[in-house]
Amino acid sequence: MRSVLVLNGPNLNLLGHRSPEFYGRQTLAQIENSCRTWSSEVGLEIEFLQSNSESTMIDAIQRAMSIHSGIIINAAAYTSTSIALRDAIEASKLPCIEIHLSNIYAREKWRSDSYLSAVSVGVICGFRETSYRLAILAMADLLES
Ligand code: DQA
Repeated sequence: MRSVLVLNGPNLNLLGHRSPEFYGRQTLAQIENSCRTWSSEVGLEIEFLQSNSESTMIDAIQRAMSIHSGIIINAAAYTSTSIALRDAIEASKLPCIEIHLSNIYAREKWRSDSYLSAVSVGVICGFRETSYRLAILAMADLLES
């Protein structure tokens, strides 16, 4: 079975009570459980990770090169700051989907200045936890084609 890294960046461990008007009320553990269900429905395994550290995220992407077939990433605030994450994704040569819970285009301008979009196959944002579901469906399609 193909496997996918679902990688979550800084402060996403606070989901559930952090700015619910943007991110909804589900905790990251609840989202992880849903992702496990959604991925098994489309024949994918997932490794689900969260880190507040940029270097841990880069290490996870480098490790993914040898064990996973794709990357789904919510890099949170690192989306707008991290050239290093961008380079790691590019170097991995794995198909990547950038996701966000909130609609980053409807918020502060800098949130949509993403270093990751150009090295991603596509971007999904604004659907809260359903952004993860849509990304899993899209990744399953990508890996089948
Ligand atoms: C986020 C959007 C980012 O701008 C923000 O820094 C986050 C979460 C989202 O999922 O909507 O932490 O990536």
